[in-house]
Amino acid sequence: MTVAMNDLNTIRPATREFLAAAHANLIGGSWVPAASGKTLSVVDPATGQEITRVAESDAADIDHAVQAARNAFESAAWRDMKPATRERLMNRLADLMEQNIDTLAELESIDNGKNVAIAKAVDMTCAIDVFRFMAGIPSKLNGATLKPSIPFAPDARFFAYSHPVPVGVVGAIIPWNFPALMIAWKLGPAFAAGCTVVLKPAEETPLTALFIGRLAQEAGFPDGVLNVVTGYGHTAGAALSNHRGVDKVAFTGSTEVGRLILQAASGNLKRVTLELGGKSPAIVMPDADAAVAIPGAASGIFFNHGQTCCAGSRLFVHKSRFDEVVDGVANIARNMKVGPGLDMSTEIGPMVSKVQQDRVCAYIEAGKAEGAELLVGGTRPDSNGFFVNPTVFVNTSNDMKIVREEIFGPVLVAMPYTDLEEVIAWANDTPYGLGASIWTRDVSTVHTLAHRIRSGTVWVNCHNVIDAALPFGGFKESGWGRENGVDAVKAYCETQTVCIAL
Ligand code: NAI
Ligand code: MG
Repeated sequence: MTVAMNDLNTIRPATREFLAAAHANLIGGSWVPAASGKTLSVVDPATGQEITRVAESDAADIDHAVQAARNAFESAAWRDMKPATRERLMNRLADLMEQNIDTLAELESIDNGKNVAIAKAVDMTCAIDVFRFMAGIPSKLNGATLKPSIPFAPDARFFAYSHPVPVGVVGAIIPWNFPALMIAWKLGPAFAAGCTVVLKPAEETPLTALFIGRLAQEAGFPDGVLNVVTGYGHTAGAALSNHRGVDKVAFTGSTEVGRLILQAASGNLKRVTLELGGKSPAIVMPDADAAVAIPGAASGIFFNHGQTCCAGSRLFVHKSRFDEVVDGVANIARNMKVGPGLDMSTEIGPMVSKVQQDRVCAYIEAGKAEGAELLVGGTRPDSNGFFVNPTVFVNTSNDMKIVREEIFGPVLVAMPYTDLEEVIAWANDTPYGLGASIWTRDVSTVHTLAHRIRSGTVWVNCHNVIDAALPFGGFKESGWGRENGVDAVKAYCETQTVCIAL
């Protein structure tokens, strides 16, 4: 099968103009090239061809940006900005994103490979929503009045309070699977808390970060509150996580790099939140509604071409329903349209990079070698783009590589189970704990299972449903801390206690 090419003639003039512009880092309110003068290639994953180039930054640029963020953090313009003013600023950024939503969606689609209509309806809409949600917080970010007894000072009277203060300069290191949404997940709570940010987007997908940098300037954010530095992880990313001038790193990406970030953070004991990998189970109970569970399990794994941290990549189906459900999912996979992101009828776009395509295909080969049975897919279509056909394996066992490791591609492993205890044990038999879904009509099963599954989110009769109001994050090796929800802002604050002798 041959896959169509992305048709760049269809994009809007504003998108075309942005791609054609010379790109640089946003540091302290100015657009500056990398100190080394180097640039890196941004590739359309649907064609393998270069679409533009951005700065290839290293430690010198990161240092410059951290200085700018520190200056902004200490400036009266940001420090003394009233909460209501900060709220308006954040809402103005959300408004500008909404005004430019089609360009943002096109940039995300060309950069990442995802369907442009999904990029608009899901990625951008949710990113804007997160900014608006977080924009409501600054005026409500309160502390507590405290009633100390101070037993060693029986005759003195004290009054005390505690209040949240911004943690300081935040290094935001984000991945390529949902670039703009991850920007919102980091910048939203950081700005709500009063922090300043150095944002390092993934080298594969820097475009919406640079565009949002422009919009933040247009919105009127003081210089240096948002700095955007593009470059590779082992250079720019490592320099940011090592930097002693950074007070907190907020990271989304691989568990492997999450560990490196923790080590780097030990230098100045910077705060760290981590949103890492997953191998999330989708559990279909004997009473599940097939009309809901079959398309639900399919979109649980195939949404965003499987490049989703909480993808339902392990499907457990009660043995009485196994053939029906798994054949149904395989049938959906067989009929999905593989194509480029600018084609709105595309259901499976390319993997983000050649590296990711090869990685996913290596897992497929490992599955075959370990004796798993391929029900559908397992191949790459004939294309210069980085496509992988949607794939379903059966006859797998819990010790196989394809069952244990995060594949991050459109590859599902499906297993039949016999009873509740067995499926609970299998669902939890993973170092990860990010998401899980339960497909049932029985309310008792819902609560029994939900409480026994060790994962940050449990969905019932749905999967991959995220929202600004819902805390999201991992148990076990899926990460540290929670994003989204009102409490996410606390991860960008220190608690300060003020104790006053009266
Ligand atoms: P990665 O973890 O290497 O990249 C994520 C971000 O970290 C990028 O901005 C990258 O530049 C940066 N980074 C890389 N090395 C770094 C270092 N030493 N210090 C600081 N920052 C660094 O992920 P990669 O290599 O793109 O994908 C590998 C696998 O990671 C995927 O196959 C998938 O399993 C997992 N992954 C999980 C994501 C999630 O949403 N939880 C997102 C992306 C990848
Ligand atoms: Mg990497």
